[in-house]
Amino acid sequence: MSSAIDSVMTETRVFGPFERVAKDAHVSGMDAYRALYDEAADDLEGFWGRQARENLIWSKPFTKVLNESNAPFYTWFEDGELNVSANCLDRHLNTPVANKTAIIFEADDGQVTQVTYKELYERVCKLANALKSLGYKKGDRSIIYLPMSIEAVVAMQACARLGITHSVVFGGFSSKSLHERCMDVGATLVITADEQKRGGRNIPLKPAVDEALSMPGTEAVRHVIVYRRTGADIAWKEGRDLWLHDVLEGQPAECEPVAVGAEHPLFILYTSGSTGKPKGVQHSSGGYLLSALLTMRWTFDIKDSDIFWCTADVGWVTGHTYIAYGPLAAGATQIMFEGVPTYPTPARFWQMIERHKCTIFYTAPTAIRSLIKASESNDEHHPKKFDLTSLRIIGSVGEPINPEAWMWYFTHVGRERCPVVDTWWQTETGSHILTPLPGATPLKPGSCTLPLPGIEIGIIDESGEEVPPGKGGFLVIKKPWPSMIRTIWGDPERFKKSYFPPEAKGYYLAGDGAQRDKDGYVWIMGRIDDVLNVSGHRLGTMEVESALVAHELVAEAAVVGRPDSTTGEAVVAFVVLKRPVPQGDEAAEIARQLRDWVGKEIGPIAKPREIRFGENLPKTRSGKIMRRLLRVVAQNETITQDVSTLENPAILDQLTKSY
Ligand code: PRX
Repeated sequence: MSSAIDSVMTETRVFGPFERVAKDAHVSGMDAYRALYDEAADDLEGFWGRQARENLIWSKPFTKVLNESNAPFYTWFEDGELNVSANCLDRHLNTPVANKTAIIFEADDGQVTQVTYKELYERVCKLANALKSLGYKKGDRSIIYLPMSIEAVVAMQACARLGITHSVVFGGFSSKSLHERCMDVGATLVITADEQKRGGRNIPLKPAVDEALSMPGTEAVRHVIVYRRTGADIAWKEGRDLWLHDVLEGQPAECEPVAVGAEHPLFILYTSGSTGKPKGVQHSSGGYLLSALLTMRWTFDIKDSDIFWCTADVGWVTGHTYIAYGPLAAGATQIMFEGVPTYPTPARFWQMIERHKCTIFYTAPTAIRSLIKASESNDEHHPKKFDLTSLRIIGSVGEPINPEAWMWYFTHVGRERCPVVDTWWQTETGSHILTPLPGATPLKPGSCTLPLPGIEIGIIDESGEEVPPGKGGFLVIKKPWPSMIRTIWGDPERFKKSYFPPEAKGYYLAGDGAQRDKDGYVWIMGRIDDVLNVSGHRLGTMEVESALVAHELVAEAAVVGRPDSTTGEAVVAFVVLKRPVPQGDEAAEIARQLRDWVGKEIGPIAKPREIRFGENLPKTRSGKIMRRLLRVVAQNETITQDVSTLENPAILDQLTKSY
């Protein structure tokens, strides 16, 4: 960790301000940022109360802004009532936005479909009516397992319209993961598709649902609604399975939105933690939507004329906040993309920006790094070959962006005219926390810069003391904020233990290491726990270990991350088999089996890049696995640390060969 800190802190380049964006930005210039920041700092409740009144439409106004009496279970606007879908759609109906394009959907094969706000409203209403006629209502929970599609947004919004709490499961997760989530959330409804199309391939979805629902614990699911995406042959369970187009048939295009309390759970999204099974992060309705909308303005400076494109999948929090909710609440036109950045060629993103005249582009460092490589190996895929002059703001999310990738993005995609907004946040924070404001904040490559108005952060040491600039520590958020996680679904104790441990002294512990420089700019140093970040996807080492040891051949497993120049981190698994250490072809074959197994247990994103076999794992005399040592071994670096406490130093030699 320390070498990473040294390298970022030597960064001295500063870019901006960007006059072109600043001149009519929602927050123009650092003075405007500071004024807003100070207003919030001086009167947190007054600030958020004003924002909530001015920016959301309430069916019943709130009288209390923040309730801290049951901290850390904070509530916001708790006696107010609203409907999230009405705040994303109905609010635009009697305005010019009604006939504006809401979503420009580009399919994997390049086909484009567009819907206006009015059309989207009608589609959401029809599905909500269909769900209502099937008996679904406020308080129910649904699982949404859909590809990137307008239907996915419609499904989320239709649930929100009725007060059904949704849990979207990323299409890359396996039937086993789907089953776990279905059970944990207590779903009574599943919305899925026959297949999804990505990178020219058809990938089945419905079979995974069938398998998940054949396992015990999911008997409560009454219906599986299936969107026909490819027309593939799929198994059908009469009485349970329904085609989406059939349930929509004849439904009225208006559906009264159901007012819910501001704290009503809009969604539960599962994410990896350092221990045990994934956590169901529970988000609210009012506070969540407020921050989703405000960050569209603050971070992306969203304007009526913008064409916004967030490349994330709706299965992740970024796709929730910056596809399904934020842009719609803001009345923005957005691009939604079904496919992958490398199909049919690694120029796909640049072609799409050019084709749709995208003005705000928001993607992940992993994608940027892989496109750098692709454009270096073939000039035809280089962004310079495309007209990207429509762009005015470019953003990054999901993992630290190294200064080199930042500079490439800024130079070749942004053409040195577009500010890069490096947004730090998490599934749990619901919306951006640390980010530059494009019309205000001078940029330093690799820093997510400063907190948003209403956010007070700190960097503390083990004893909870604030560390001085230039010193690393644990990132904390000191005051509650509207879009914060409310609890872990069904496990309030775990919520307290994970995010508000006694050492953090009442602050929200983010789980990231960070430091501030002399200008107060924040530099994120990566996770401090056993959570990996592979291609911007969060993975718990324990999750992968549990999957491995569930295989019949495996006696013990330890998983660590190794830095990777494209994916950020790569999963390296150290495995002890119940049989002698395999060699050569046999080892390669077992490694293949284990990889497939992990793919089935969790999903392809969790497959270990490398598997290394040993007759044992390096352990201390008290039997603790020496993970720090394994990280060094995984990087094929020379071991300089003291191994005298190691019980079995000889096994280190076995662990050098990877399969
Ligand atoms: O380690 C941080 C990293 O991603 C984690 C959150 O992952 P997740 O909940 O999946 O949400 C990702 C999308 C918001 C954080 O704890 N992370 C996210 N954004 C950044 C980042 N690390 C550095 N810089 C960022 N901009």
